[in-house]
Amino acid sequence: MKKPLVKSAKFVISNTDIKKCPSDGKPEYAFIGRSNVGKSSLINMLTGHRKLAMTSATPGKTLLINHFIVNDEWYLVDLPGYGYAKRSKSQNEQLEHIISSYILDRDAMTLLFVLIDCRHEPQKIDLEFFQWLGENGVPFSIIFTKADKLTRGALVSNIEAYKKRLLEDWEELPPVFITSSETALGREDILQYITEINETL
Ligand code: GTP
Ligand code: MG
Repeated sequence: MKKPLVKSAKFVISNTDIKKCPSDGKPEYAFIGRSNVGKSSLINMLTGHRKLAMTSATPGKTLLINHFIVNDEWYLVDLPGYGYAKRSKSQNEQLEHIISSYILDRDAMTLLFVLIDCRHEPQKIDLEFFQWLGENGVPFSIIFTKADKLTRGALVSNIEAYKKRLLEDWEELPPVFITSSETALGREDILQYITEINETL
């Protein structure tokens, strides 16, 4: 029988200051994307715990850097979303500072997963975010979320269109995953991918 890729998953700490994040140097895989794209839901889906990360139908739920340890070996990190228009300017600036300091200065961050809602056409805010990652040499992969909300045909054509748009800016694409937190689509592929990276560290 195949060994389960997630044997245990536990909440460790939430904070706004990367200096207070865990200091054991274990590899971290972080999730970022627009507010409400499904970051926290994806962490729950991957770990198989419905209530590990807090989710909400209202955007702007996650406001802190949240560390969850998997198998006592590596971390999943839930980050606040960007681009929520209903927040005050100062709160958005504060969140951007938290997000950018984590992404740029966190040595333990092994890979950043950028989440994109598969229902939408490429949005300026996400395309600019990819540019910023490129300029700063941040390693990332792309996860399309909420695949259960589209028919198979619409899903395939949206993702093809998205990749085509990215190839206008990029010579090659990072690994791309298609997921649903409702049906657990993509779970094994992402966990396998993380496991393989961990084996190279
Ligand atoms: P913030 O923390 O506010 O930035 O949002 P988030 O990106 O963590 O999103 P969250 O996981 O809280 O999900 C937002 C809403 O989308 C919730 O109502 C979820 O139930 C819903 N949702 C997330 N993923 C999926 C999915 O794969 N399928 C469906 N149908 N709904 C989803
Ligand atoms: Mg969240």
